[in-house]
Amino acid sequence: MRLMVTGGAGFIGSAVVRRAIDAGDTVLNVDKLTYAANLDNIASVADHPNYQFSQSDICDMPKMAQLITEFKPDCVMNLAAETHVDRSIDGPGAFIQTNIVGTYSLLEASREFCKSGNAPSGFRFHHISTDEVFGSLGPTGEFTEDSPYQPNSPYSAAKASSDMLARAWRETFGLDVIVTNCSNNYGPYQFPEKLIPVVIIAALEGRDIPIYGKGDNIRDWLYVEDHADALLLVARKGKSGETYNVGGRAERTNLELVKMICAVLDDELSDSPHRPHESLIKFVSDRPGHDHRYAINCDKIERELGWQPSVSVEEGMRQTVLWYLNNKEWWEAIRGKGFDVAKRQGLGQQKS
Ligand SMILES: NC(=O)c1ccc[n+]([C@@H]2O[C@H](COP(=O)([O-])OP(=O)(O)OC[C@H]3O[C@@H](n4cnc5c(N)ncnc54)[C@H](O)[C@@H]3O)[C@@H](O)[C@H]2O)c1
Repeated sequence: MRLMVTGGAGFIGSAVVRRAIDAGDTVLNVDKLTYAANLDNIASVADHPNYQFSQSDICDMPKMAQLITEFKPDCVMNLAAETHVDRSIDGPGAFIQTNIVGTYSLLEASREFCKSGNAPSGFRFHHISTDEVFGSLGPTGEFTEDSPYQPNSPYSAAKASSDMLARAWRETFGLDVIVTNCSNNYGPYQFPEKLIPVVIIAALEGRDIPIYGKGDNIRDWLYVEDHADALLLVARKGKSGETYNVGGRAERTNLELVKMICAVLDDELSDSPHRPHESLIKFVSDRPGHDHRYAINCDKIERELGWQPSVSVEEGMRQTVLWYLNNKEWWEAIRGKGFDVAKRQGLGQQKS
């Protein structure tokens, strides 16, 4: 498959790029290289003959049209996005621009490609989305593909908007569109502003481990490589016009998850002065509009495409902690570029 991946220098996109190259696909990675990107994430494939890179902004429609026309992909897989909920509270503008306008620009460039008659038969647009578009659940229930959209943060609202654009380009213009909605990912190469790397790095350094609210928010966790496998499978075999939920069947409260990470660190670092790492946990004021619970029902992708998560959250988290322990230079380099891993973002305007 000739695969144009947007956002391929980020966390999930780079996992997709690495796996696609391993699988023999030809990949064009299109990434603007924002603060969240890191070319080290794809260093292992950078010199591969099947790999190309273009530093471009998905909002630049003429550029997207040119790249698509020249590369002639079988699939455009759109992962490029602003992704950090806390940042979307501090500054929603970039989220509106990239997540909505950028998706529009790619959809239009793809539509023009199809109209030109030069698109390969079976050309498709695979839009990557999140379970956060469905809003927040109470103690029971799961999101299915038919759950109503009820986004609560600027991030999830912008993602929900882009999903609706993808749907409209299918219904109105007949573009072969597939959307996948995935739960929280974790694994190697995740930018150290997100919960898992924040916790690992704080614990390693003996700093407070911040947990929002009471730590009772529940997320469903999926190992990033399993998500990448699901995306490549959907791109190849998914049914046109469908949406697929992707999840790990691993619901945990934030507190449970942080304790799991601390236990791995206690095991691995038997002479650390910070043991037990759990003692570093500090509850901090909650994120405004913090969704309480997400849970994904992924029966459809399991039943129709035969995908299943291959790694349990306990095993995946152990591998992730070990990766951050063994790849200190990766996150030290990010810090070296001026990123403050201990800085809290997204307090926003507190509700009265
Ligand atoms: N991380 C998760 O848990 C999760 C879960 C479900 C869905 N998703 C979705 O998966 C996708 C990837 O998420 P991630 O966690 O890898 O994100 P990330 O923040 O790690 O990476 C995003 C990448 O997109 C690039 N990018 C941003 N704006 C761009 C633009 N205008 N033009 C071109 N490139 C641009 C960045 O440079 C970066 O490389 C996103 O669409 C996100 O909404 C993420």
